[in-house]
Amino acid sequence: MPSSSILSQMPLCCGDPLVLRLAGPQDAEALVEFNTRLFDARFTGWTADLASGRHPTVQAGDFTVVVDTRSQKIVSSVCLISQTWLYGGIPFQVGRPELVATDPDYRRRGLVRKQFQAIHARSAAKGELMQVITGVDWIYRQFGYEMGVKMWGSRCVDSMHLTRLKGPGGCRVRPATSDDHAFIRNVYEQASCRELFAAARSSEEWDYEFSGRSKDNTRRRDWLIVEDAAGSRLGYVQYLPCIALSHMPMLRIYQVELKAGAGYLNVWPELLKGLWEKGKALVADGILACEELLGLELALERDHPLYHAIPKSHLREIKASPWYIRVPDMVALLRRIRPEMEKHLIGTVAEGYSGELKLNFFRGGIQLSFERGRISNIESWNPNEVWEGDARFPDASFMQLVCGWHRFDRMAESYADCWGTHEAAVLLDCLFPSYHGKVWLLA
Ligand SMILES: CC(C)(COP(=O)(O)OP(=O)(O)OC[C@H]1O[C@@H](n2cnc3c(N)ncnc32)[C@H](O)[C@@H]1OP(=O)(O)O)[C@@H](O)C(=O)NCCC(=O)NCCS
Repeated sequence: MPSSSILSQMPLCCGDPLVLRLAGPQDAEALVEFNTRLFDARFTGWTADLASGRHPTVQAGDFTVVVDTRSQKIVSSVCLISQTWLYGGIPFQVGRPELVATDPDYRRRGLVRKQFQAIHARSAAKGELMQVITGVDWIYRQFGYEMGVKMWGSRCVDSMHLTRLKGPGGCRVRPATSDDHAFIRNVYEQASCRELFAAARSSEEWDYEFSGRSKDNTRRRDWLIVEDAAGSRLGYVQYLPCIALSHMPMLRIYQVELKAGAGYLNVWPELLKGLWEKGKALVADGILACEELLGLELALERDHPLYHAIPKSHLREIKASPWYIRVPDMVALLRRIRPEMEKHLIGTVAEGYSGELKLNFFRGGIQLSFERGRISNIESWNPNEVWEGDARFPDASFMQLVCGWHRFDRMAESYADCWGTHEAAVLLDCLFPSYHGKVWLLA
């Protein structure tokens, strides 16, 4: 079935007595009950906010549900969280499927597969060029997803290091107030311009981040201001005001961003000391529900400058997990990011390049034409033979290059059926540089 037609067929029978349809405001309470039961209480407030209409991009109609018409109960559901990402500052629309679940009594009947068809059709109708998802290993590969951008690179600083910290007394942290919101937004936007991938926030989304989520929404974040001894703002910290993992009670820090001109090397001991004090105060106030805080979990970009400033002996690394990414129309995505791809060639051996690049994806392909460093054309190309083209990529593996996850040589080493001419390999690495950041997803 072509993906677009599934929406026009709703409500759609998924085998008597099951019916797939888009949810509506009348389903909000049942969605909260379903996700709380299928996951746990950490999903209650999050689902309620998403289904309530309070969220800037999501309402109840962005959930698909499968209902058992005998009991009128929801037995499976998926939600789509629409958002804007930036590639080198170029905005493009992204859909994030979330809250994917099927009641155990109804599993393995294709209910999630069917809903992904619907979610993908809805995402396409919204003009979204990419879908991203975290979650269980492997499952989403079946629906066209491939590993892409990393989520974050967590490094823990255990309490034994934090209790010994001493600094020169140059900085401290304090809670952010509404007077700091414009500052935080400004520092974030300047930092995200430097990243290959980043997420943008509209004014409504910023308001939602600062004060829109319910208290019990585990996607809510709180903010601290880093300031110098004279009270001048140096930057901000974004943290999770609850315990993420009960077996590892730590204060999780999602963002640390200093404004241009403020360096991490001077600041890090007192910054960590301030965060550690803050964490202990949150435990004392019952906000972090644990008996003893074990340390700080820095869930920052994999190459965050703070990781370079803190001595390696203080950092314990936790394996980063990636987002699964789907790009239904690679030509459309490449056309959107073309100006940035051209910029990437400047200063490389491929500067001013002229020629053709044919990429063979076996079930299809793409042809790019270059004229003196400009990409004059990007279009679909259908190889007749598996060996045709300048470079070949199995399945959706080309995504790994576009996301800066792997260099071409690494891919050719990992996949025997990934191959390229020397010229294509060099050109591709110049077009798609490595990326070690993380994207602050709208949740
Ligand atoms: C993972 C989950 C959402 C799958 O839902 P489902 O409705 O059973 O999925 P479907 O029946 O549509 O299965 C789609 C495909 O995945 C396969 N699949 C489903 N569960 C699987 C599993 N646990 N292991 C391996 N394959 C699985 C199915 O066989 C099917 O493939 P097929 O069409 O080739 O047979 C469901 O098991 C669940 O709710 N788990 C608990 C919540 C969860 O982990 N959610 C994801 C968090 S992001």
